[in-house]
Amino acid sequence: MADLENSLLQALNAQEVIADSGDLAKSLGVEHIVLVGTIRSLQASEMIIAEDIDHFRYVLTDEAQGYLAAGSPEVQVFNAVPAGEGITLAELKTRVPGEAGDVGFKQAMQQRWLALDKSGGGEPRVVRKVDAVEDRTQQLLADVAGGKELPKAEAENLAKKRKLIKPEQWKTYKLTKGPKFALERKKPATDLTFEMMSKGTWRTQEFKDYNFNALGVPPPSGQLHPLLKVRSQFRKIFTQMGFEEMPTNQYVESSFWNFDALFQPQQHPARDAHDTFFLTKPASTASDRGVDKDYLNRVKSVHEMGGYGSVGYGYSWKLAESEKNLLRTHTTAVSSRMLYRLANQPGGFKPAKYFSIDRVFRNEQVDRTHLAEFHQVEGLVCDRGLTLGDLIGVLNQFFSRLGLKKLRFKPAFNPYTEPSMEIFSYSEQLGKWMEVGNSGMFRPEMLRPMGLPEDVNVIAWGLSLERPTMILYGIDNIRDLFGHKVSLSMVRKNPICRLGL
Ligand code: PHE
Repeated sequence: MADLENSLLQALNAQEVIADSGDLAKSLGVEHIVLVGTIRSLQASEMIIAEDIDHFRYVLTDEAQGYLAAGSPEVQVFNAVPAGEGITLAELKTRVPGEAGDVGFKQAMQQRWLALDKSGGGEPRVVRKVDAVEDRTQQLLADVAGGKELPKAEAENLAKKRKLIKPEQWKTYKLTKGPKFALERKKPATDLTFEMMSKGTWRTQEFKDYNFNALGVPPPSGQLHPLLKVRSQFRKIFTQMGFEEMPTNQYVESSFWNFDALFQPQQHPARDAHDTFFLTKPASTASDRGVDKDYLNRVKSVHEMGGYGSVGYGYSWKLAESEKNLLRTHTTAVSSRMLYRLANQPGGFKPAKYFSIDRVFRNEQVDRTHLAEFHQVEGLVCDRGLTLGDLIGVLNQFFSRLGLKKLRFKPAFNPYTEPSMEIFSYSEQLGKWMEVGNSGMFRPEMLRPMGLPEDVNVIAWGLSLERPTMILYGIDNIRDLFGHKVSLSMVRKNPICRLGL
């Protein structure tokens, strides 16, 4: 490269003008395209000036290369027809097979070199109408191959109708000296050095210009996982709506708060090791820790024989079952602790709005949409005289802040809510209704044993954090979002999250 640059500068210095860089490339023995890099770089340094010279020529197509050697198809076909009685079409086809035969026959007929003779009564025969022909097409192809310019009409016929030649365009350059012409390129300095200062050479030294468009080095920093970004958006929505965050720093729960306090019977299938991760060490929690004896008895009795308008489940409730430790299966365990605390706080009950967003665990088959752990978003409002209308209203407010304005509800069942509703939202993007959450009003069998006044109701809902995150970030396999297969560059590069926009 440097050699090429030298040769170019030498040549330009000697000749003052290089009329066509194509000739220079030839004399230097390199492809013109190789010289172009050198020309551009010298031009950028203003050492030379390069003016475009546009070139145009026709070249032969692959098909035409064959005809250049073997003769044009029309002449091939003419030669294959014997003088006199001629030949049948079928036979002619075997003598000049393929495209050459078809094209040649058509051309020779058009030129009136050949004709079809049907007078014999039998199969028509191809016969000669002239004694000899001249291969004008082959001659033209030879001219193109030799770099000669064709008459316009013939060039167009060969290029457009017969597709035997095609145009080729390229550029070369006229070169002259630029304002910074020199026989050798001076590398501009990037730094002002002590030496330049002490010797005074900085006065004549050329410096490289600042590149204000250069990208900076990315500053080393931590990056937020998409789930954390979406979580902070959810937090913002909840706090704007006046909700307080519940403490969720407890993955291990007792069955009591996860199930029993929620009026979920002890033989309920969700309480099976197939659905729930139970701890082996420590396998249980003494129930008198943080749970008042009277409350425990009220829970036992509501399970066994009901109360507060309920008939209960009619089985024998076991304390030991409620003491089993597990990884919480929902953050509703957190809600039940908080509601118990709310009912028993000094000064008595006060209305409250709570939310939480944290991890829950389920003993599930792992696949592209399920993991054994996920994050749950949970909200609840506890106040006097709340109705299903309040729940629908709050859900509409909440989801419309997420950008999900069209909601539908479907009756559902949870052991701890009545009525219960699945929440569906219409996705304009996907053109269909999608399940986005679950909700309900907590049952009196759950709230009254805690000591909440009779006229106090609780409306609550829950959804996963993963589902909206996957939709927002266009991730369709949950294992690309969470777990050991997650790509760190996805975490580094994912954009900021704006919900509801
Ligand atoms: N706990 C429910 C679930 O795991 C969600 C929910 C919360 C439902 C509150 C109703 C009320 O899906």
